[in-house]
Amino acid sequence: MKTTIEKVGSHAGAEVIIGCWLANKRTSGKIAFLQLRDGTGFIQGVVVKNEIGEEAFREIKNLTQESSLYVTGSVKEDERSPSGFELQVSNVEIIHKAVDYPITPKEHGPEFLMDHRHLWLRSKKQHAIMRIRNEIIRATYEFFDKEGFIKVDPPILTGSSAEGTTNLFHTKYFDEDAFLSQSGQLYMEAAAIAFNKVFSFGPTFRAEKSKTRRHLIEFWMIEPEMAFVDHEESLVIQENYVTDVVQSVLDRCRLELKALDRDTEKLKSIKAPFPRMSYDDAIAFLQKKGYDISWGEDFGAPHETAIADSHETPVFITNYPADIKAFYMKPDPERAEVVLCADLIAPEGYGEIIGGSQRIDDPELMEERFKEHQLSEDAYQWYLDLRKYGTVPHSGFGLGLERTVAWIAGVEHVRETIPFPRLLNRLYP
Ligand code: 4AD
Ligand code: MG
Repeated sequence: MKTTIEKVGSHAGAEVIIGCWLANKRTSGKIAFLQLRDGTGFIQGVVVKNEIGEEAFREIKNLTQESSLYVTGSVKEDERSPSGFELQVSNVEIIHKAVDYPITPKEHGPEFLMDHRHLWLRSKKQHAIMRIRNEIIRATYEFFDKEGFIKVDPPILTGSSAEGTTNLFHTKYFDEDAFLSQSGQLYMEAAAIAFNKVFSFGPTFRAEKSKTRRHLIEFWMIEPEMAFVDHEESLVIQENYVTDVVQSVLDRCRLELKALDRDTEKLKSIKAPFPRMSYDDAIAFLQKKGYDISWGEDFGAPHETAIADSHETPVFITNYPADIKAFYMKPDPERAEVVLCADLIAPEGYGEIIGGSQRIDDPELMEERFKEHQLSEDAYQWYLDLRKYGTVPHSGFGLGLERTVAWIAGVEHVRETIPFPRLLNRLYP
């Protein structure tokens, strides 16, 4: 019976056929251990010369890495194996013999691996990371569905920018100028007024000249937007969402976390509510630690890490100065120089995973901001309409998928958290 490695557990004792690839092998005179992978998982196949015959055994001994196979064998429970099972192989049919597969079990440098990303994805660690990414996406849809959100898809090609004009990707749109979306937010605000609670999940683009372990040029964002929800209420949704996602990965990615040697005790302590620290307090905290930073300045990676290191769970930094945040954020009614916003900083040095805020709902103030930020009323007229016709208090946020994957999976660099990363100076493969 044809099955997959992921499902062999339900065929214990029976004979199965698995379409797979040879990831690695170890042989002695009489026995061969094949590390097989089929994309759903990894399993060891044990081949005994006396059982399979001399001729077949010789062929198996000569098998090359990443050759594609149909392997027939009976499923045996095995406590030592991470999945709990191994295959007692009775037949190997070779589909294709791979020659000189470039990624061998020895260590390779990151540039070499990035050049071979299309092949690197097959390796155990990358496989585990992508499965965790998939689980975060699955849990995201489940969470927002349960909370009464509907998914709305904002455009990728846009005529306006949400997060400032400095790192826009420019393209021609027939005779007009267009930009690749930096954030779907402005459109999601329109959607929230039309559908109440909405979320988007899509690629976003930033021509940032940053070459750090936290920056991608193309990354995926989850952007919820909620009508009649204020800043404080939005923080509760955010912490519940993040807690839920971490719990889902713990529940459903046990093998993957193990393959990555992730310290799961750290993840188990992630429970809402998360601490809130005001920007003012964060500045005072950093100054006390000896950092040279003053009120009005934005945080860099070392600052974020210093704040994160004093907490077990993610921490919200709230109420930043209006001057260092986006034009659409609502000023604190008691203190106009700060805005009702928060960044969520992940533990263990993974940096900011969420940026969010309550949005300006007052039409006059919004028009003022347009003038201050020199935003063209032509391109943004539709956005002003949202304030003109039945404006309401509303809030939203954006969670960066790759940084979240990096944190939960315990992966140093975001380049390993997306199948085909777009980095400064890398558009291949
Ligand atoms: O803080 P950002 O810029 O917020 C927004 O774009 C808002 N419009 C979102 C909203 O309110 N709807 O980006 C949100 C998140 C960051 O916290 C970070 O996790 C991620 O997106 N992010 C990046 N991830 C990888 N590479 C980059 N270059 C990123 N820039 C932002
Ligand atoms: Mg941000």
